[in-house]
Amino acid sequence: MRGLEQKLGRRFARMTTNLVVARPVLWRLLRPLTKRQFDRLAPQWTTMRSDEAFAPLEAALDALPAEPSNVLDLGTGTGLAAFAVARRFPSASVVGSDIAEEMLSQARNATPPELADRVRFEAADAAQLPFPPGAFDLVVLANMIPFFDELERIVAPGGHVVFSFSSGPETPIWVPSERLRSELGRRGFSDFADFEAGPGTAFLARKGEPA
Ligand SMILES: C[S@@+](CC[C@H](N)C(=O)[O-])C[C@H]1O[C@@H](n2cnc3c(N)ncnc32)[C@H](O)[C@@H]1O
Repeated sequence: MRGLEQKLGRRFARMTTNLVVARPVLWRLLRPLTKRQFDRLAPQWTTMRSDEAFAPLEAALDALPAEPSNVLDLGTGTGLAAFAVARRFPSASVVGSDIAEEMLSQARNATPPELADRVRFEAADAAQLPFPPGAFDLVVLANMIPFFDELERIVAPGGHVVFSFSSGPETPIWVPSERLRSELGRRGFSDFADFEAGPGTAFLARKGEPA
């Protein structure tokens, strides 16, 4: 029974991703079920992550030309990517945002004491974020549905965005690189790069400076 529920959950996540990437306006209808799905998964979420779940994210972070100062982990879940980024960049301030309060509660409880002064968690919807334009020089989305207009708004000129998918195209929330390229390309991003690590993939892009 549990297996069937998980299978349906993964199908719902893929369907939601495809619909919202094609028509962001549909998020309003799909948001309540998505939030409920992840609130329910929150207590087990960290145990469901494999050791290599963030290997593609780490591969993309290796390629950044400089250390970021202000980082946003969008759809942070239990905060695992936020913690990985904070460990890698010891001067960075990291915000993890999610719509699922239960996920955020797990993330806050799991925050290692040595990161607590630089990592915070804040409820926010990636479709309409409570952050000013250009607030972050790095935005990370690990297994997360992208909202491209908001990404364009909150990434600082010269800043980067990283998408990672723990199981590559088998990840329930997955967007093909070609789609990321075209959506980001027409919003002023460039310097695209693809990464593979274990079964996972990642994608890096840089936002251009104003002319
Ligand atoms: C598949 S989980 C990934 C969690 C974490 N990044 C990881 O890889 O372990 C997707 C997360 O994104 C959150 N989420 C989905 N849509 C969102 C949105 N529009 N804004 C913020 N969070 C969202 C969900 O609540 C869930 O915690």
